[in-house]
Amino acid sequence: MSQRDVIIACDFSSAEATLSFLDKFTDCKPFVKIGMELYYAAGPAIVKAIKDRGHKIFLDLKLHDIPNTVKKAMSVLSHMDVDMCNLHAAGTIEMMKAALEGLTRPDGTRPLLIAVTQLTSTSEERMQKDLLIGASINDTIVHYAKNAQIAGLDGVVCSPLEAGMVKEACGAGFVTVTPGVRFADGEVGDQVRVTTPERAKEIGTDYIVVGRPITNAPDPVAAYKRCVAEFVG
Ligand code: C5P
Repeated sequence: MSQRDVIIACDFSSAEATLSFLDKFTDCKPFVKIGMELYYAAGPAIVKAIKDRGHKIFLDLKLHDIPNTVKKAMSVLSHMDVDMCNLHAAGTIEMMKAALEGLTRPDGTRPLLIAVTQLTSTSEERMQKDLLIGASINDTIVHYAKNAQIAGLDGVVCSPLEAGMVKEACGAGFVTVTPGVRFADGEVGDQVRVTTPERAKEIGTDYIVVGRPITNAPDPVAAYKRCVAEFVG
């Protein structure tokens, strides 16, 4: 069964900007994504501040290093009360297994751990030419998703356009978290593999991650509610 939700990518450069943005949401508590920009600027304190306000948090730090380093970093992250965190599947099955071990607390609990397959800003042409990956982007994403599943992870980050085939390959319970979402009448920006919240719902993804279409909107709360209406129902 799907747990469909909209996650707002809070790509701000300071705690103040983030908290004043979240102040606008007076009648709801959106699921919030903290990415590299905000985390490097404001550190663990912003994670705690947002959690204390009652939001769920996806800590999007996309770890990618040798297994031992990722395991130890994940063990530090396990002390923060986040709901979801992630790494790059390109780090190999061994790295993902080590990450899971590091993230699991002594009592057996842990945040959801998901793997980035290919960034939604990467086109098939750039993946093949720059990264020298000869397979199609779809085959690469499904392969990385299967690796994440073998390692015991909960799901992957991919484009909503790929969520259907990931579910087909890994099962309905394997979570898909999908950025690359744009309103039908909105700007695409630097994203490449994009679709609308409505189409993402039809394809069957679990979470959509939406940044600039909400954070840059004249009325961010209205834009968030439009996303929820189109995606959740
Ligand atoms: O502003 P926009 O809606 O493009 O934001 C998408 C967010 O999702 C950004 O924070 C970006 O870092 C993140 N992301 C992504 N593609 C991935 C993984 C994460 O765009 N594969």
